[in-house]
Amino acid sequence: MYGSGSASGAQVKKVTAPEVRARKGAGPSLAMVTAYDFTMARLLDEAGVDLLLVGDSLGMVVQGLGNTLPVTLDEIAYHSRAVVRGASRAHVVGDMPFMSYQVSPSQAVESAGKLVKDGAVESIKLEGGEDFAEHVWRIVRAGVPVMGHVGLMPQSVHALGGFKVQGRGQDAARKVVADAKAIEEAGAYAIVLEAIPPDVAAAVTAAVGIPTIGIGAGPSCDGQVLVCTDLLGMSRGHAPKFAKHYAELGDAIVAATKRYVDEVRTGAFPAAAQSYKPNSADESGPRVSEQGKVVNLR
Ligand code: KIV
Repeated sequence: MYGSGSASGAQVKKVTAPEVRARKGAGPSLAMVTAYDFTMARLLDEAGVDLLLVGDSLGMVVQGLGNTLPVTLDEIAYHSRAVVRGASRAHVVGDMPFMSYQVSPSQAVESAGKLVKDGAVESIKLEGGEDFAEHVWRIVRAGVPVMGHVGLMPQSVHALGGFKVQGRGQDAARKVVADAKAIEEAGAYAIVLEAIPPDVAAAVTAAVGIPTIGIGAGPSCDGQVLVCTDLLGMSRGHAPKFAKHYAELGDAIVAATKRYVDEVRTGAFPAAAQSYKPNSADESGPRVSEQGKVVNLR
């Protein structure tokens, strides 16, 4: 079923967390993309992505913030509901935002439950290594599949001193591997590796029995994830090194909108093709008389 879209309206089977887990070392690499709304989710799903992530990156991509920290659980739930409506096949993952789970394992279970109940997500993702293994364990025991996230954890941007590559040097590399193993042992079904050297990502991928999904982590991972606006060339300003553009939709949107603005200003839009059929003389609806007055108004 890989690559089958929903545009035809045919019944399509949803990708599940156990199926994602079973792709470790089997089947094609997993393709995950972020999405924040129905329209984008439907197009990405039609293209055959395996997973859609309603990432807390929505703070930067949708809300124009400098980091992800202010994003709330309600905001992730709101965007998730829209994404789920557009995802016929792709598995939808909801991101747990800053301070929705860090306080305690109990808070983590409650927040994960809220994303499932209010956001209709099919699994959740959270950032953290060994220190968050208990949180993951409790959420999984509550019946919610968990995707981990280690390496660069953007919610720790202040502690890290910026969005910096992690896992450089032997101790730091060993820490990333230990974090990933702890999250696997706690019951996660997959794990995101962000901004680490490719050799470290290869070591993690070999060390764990669940799929690794890389972003800025090189080619050895079991899957890849990109932010949709990076993938489609819609971002402006600084782009991370790993953000490959598969289209230049930002430029296409600006060019198309310029044409629209021109046509509105010159009167070329709307033309007859975009206008409804005028009332004929024998109909009783409103029409303009020869003197320019609207007649037959009811
Ligand atoms: O929030 C997000 O979009 C993410 C991805 C970059 C993995 O966590």
